[in-house]
Amino acid sequence: MTIKEIQEEIIKLKKEKDFCVLAHAYVGQEILEVADYIGDSFGLSVEASKDEHKNVIMCGVRFMAETCKILSPEKKVYLANPVAGCPMAEQMDLEALEAFKEMYPDHAVVAYINTTSELKTGCDVCVTSASAVKICKALDNDKILFIPDPNLGDYVSKQIPEKEFVFFRGGCPRHAVMTVNDVKKAKELHPDALFLVHPECRPEVVAMADYVGSTTGIMAYAKKSDAKEFIIGTENSIVEHLQFDCPDKLFYPLSINLTCMNMKVTTLVDVLNVLKGVGGEEINLDEKVMEGASRCINRMIELG
Ligand code: 13P
Ligand code: SF4
Repeated sequence: MTIKEIQEEIIKLKKEKDFCVLAHAYVGQEILEVADYIGDSFGLSVEASKDEHKNVIMCGVRFMAETCKILSPEKKVYLANPVAGCPMAEQMDLEALEAFKEMYPDHAVVAYINTTSELKTGCDVCVTSASAVKICKALDNDKILFIPDPNLGDYVSKQIPEKEFVFFRGGCPRHAVMTVNDVKKAKELHPDALFLVHPECRPEVVAMADYVGSTTGIMAYAKKSDAKEFIIGTENSIVEHLQFDCPDKLFYPLSINLTCMNMKVTTLVDVLNVLKGVGGEEINLDEKVMEGASRCINRMIELG
């Protein structure tokens, strides 16, 4: 089958079987073209809580499918490719969190949404890169234990100097390896380009940016800007999607190392196979986990 034929089959089957396809913007262009909604982690959560289809296919990583199931327990939610995980989400378990909380008993626990559902049961609220500043500002507590990404935490804490933050030593293995040298090299090659960056990058890399924001924030900024060239400091799919959306502008990757293999593992055929009933993984979570994690995720949606 060709890409076009598979896409046509997906569009036909999802209508017949009452499926909605949600896609994180880090997946491939051919999947975005059949998605009902494309966005960053925050947008996907909000969409999952509003969508009215009986069945959902998540094209992204496991914690996103779990978030979707927690927000819509009555729906059948499928992760298109079961091996798509997020290494950052696995960096801390409940035991490590409890030990950390004992050291800082007066702090509110703020979890990046890139965490397991089980870990969320021990946290006060979730945040995404798009909602973190707003939510941390809105919290009553002035002391915050921010897990697991210290880079996002550093970016957030700089916007709220009146609050006290403590960080865990985790982070995204893709964004966190970008260096000042990578930025210098990209700027030398493209001196007229603006540098747009995701706050999962290190503070010294973020400090060199013309714009800092979530996946959706970066895409919206590049589309609206009068500038013609951009260095993209986030996952490399965003370079491709922006190039499709804005053919009159030029987009350059900050580094080839900014490719998340977990986001790339999902294919168009995975989506088709879920619709045919022969692929994907239906997400089912323990009742106690659903309850604890939904408190944390719903608080994020209320405050964000
Ligand atoms: P956002 O979707 O919040 O931009 O985060 C990027 C990411 O790393 C998702 O795993
Ligand atoms: Fe996880 Fe980083 Fe990949 Fe996002 S880009 S899914 S944080 S490994």
